[in-house]
Amino acid sequence: MLIISIETSCDETAVSLVIADGEFPHASYEIAGNGLWSQVDAHAQYGGVFPMVAKREHARTLVPMLLQATEQSDLLENHPTDLSEADQVTLRELLAHEEGLADALIEFCAHHSLPKIDLIAVTSGPGLEPALWVGVSFAKALAHITGAPVVPVNHMEGHILASIYDVERDDMLSDISFPAVALLISGGHTELINMSNWGTYDKVGQTRDDAVGEAFDKVARLLGLPYPGGPQISRLAAEARKANLPEFAPLPRPMINSGDLDFSFSGLKTAVRYAVADKELTDDERAAVARDFEDAVTATLLKKTSTAVAGTSAQTLIVGGGVSANQFIKRAFESHFLTVHPDCTVYFPAPSLATDNSIMIALAGHARATSALSPAGAIDIRADGNKSL
Ligand code: KG4
Ligand code: ZN
Repeated sequence: MLIISIETSCDETAVSLVIADGEFPHASYEIAGNGLWSQVDAHAQYGGVFPMVAKREHARTLVPMLLQATEQSDLLENHPTDLSEADQVTLRELLAHEEGLADALIEFCAHHSLPKIDLIAVTSGPGLEPALWVGVSFAKALAHITGAPVVPVNHMEGHILASIYDVERDDMLSDISFPAVALLISGGHTELINMSNWGTYDKVGQTRDDAVGEAFDKVARLLGLPYPGGPQISRLAAEARKANLPEFAPLPRPMINSGDLDFSFSGLKTAVRYAVADKELTDDERAAVARDFEDAVTATLLKKTSTAVAGTSAQTLIVGGGVSANQFIKRAFESHFLTVHPDCTVYFPAPSLATDNSIMIALAGHARATSALSPAGAIDIRADGNKSL
């Protein structure tokens, strides 16, 4: 099964070509082509993601990413696609709200033909709705050209599957034991999910204010570091640990003893704001703040997740979302679980699949299309910024 997958929920524009062999979760995959464009530079001046800028950037870069993925795959055919006048009118209608995208796609078709596509997987939510619509409309346009069905994908399910994807073996870890707990930590989400089986999700905890990635980004801004803040904070924190720098300020671990599985990160961010207010920080002090913040976040995530795992005697913990790229958090989880929950196996994604990408969308689309997991709403797909698992 040849899958084209599309991800435009936030500030990464991604298109992949993935060949899947078999049915989920016993399939093997070949990542034939992968186009991934980070919009970081376009958003840097705003210190965060600006939805209308994201929308415009997706429209500008989707066709270049399609070209990159298909060229890498060696499956691109260098002869024009047979498009009638009526086809072109339809494509223009489908892409009417996406500036320049219809022209770019019709131009692509004037020179190239896509191979036979079996499935188009597209993120339909959650995310920034104007950004999601670009991908959804593009998927519909590709469906018109190729005749392939479109399956809508939940971005968070994509993160879960990315975390259990074995990049060396190119397959999904089908021997996952249930019940499982998923901790999803990204720029927009912080959630604890109980999974009694594949595709069965019960949200048992979430942030009451900022998402953990958002907190990393905001604290980075307070420290004068560029967006996205997660990797920057984590780099400085590692330096502070190596140099054994003293604590800069005591920071709270919000809600750590609240007795439920919810999180709160805005108080932590505010505590950092007060601690650094009106001060000219030295490089060492900035590194110490980054480390103190990362320590506080890690302690909170670990405590709540450990409680969730104990509550269901989960045999598997799946950590996913952009923040799961953080190696300090990963090591803290791995060593804690090894001693406290030795029967629970912990999965973090390969670094290349931790932050947003379209390979995870292909995996989730394939799962929905080939298993009993229902491909809900496949007929009239709409972007849904608040889509839940
Ligand atoms: O999943 P993702 O790529 O996009 C969303 O779906 O939101 O997550 C992006 C978030 C950003 O907030 C970014 O700062 C954070 O993930 N992030 C990190 C690291 N790498 C990315 N946070 C902490 N440490 C990292 N190494
Ligand atoms: Zn994400």
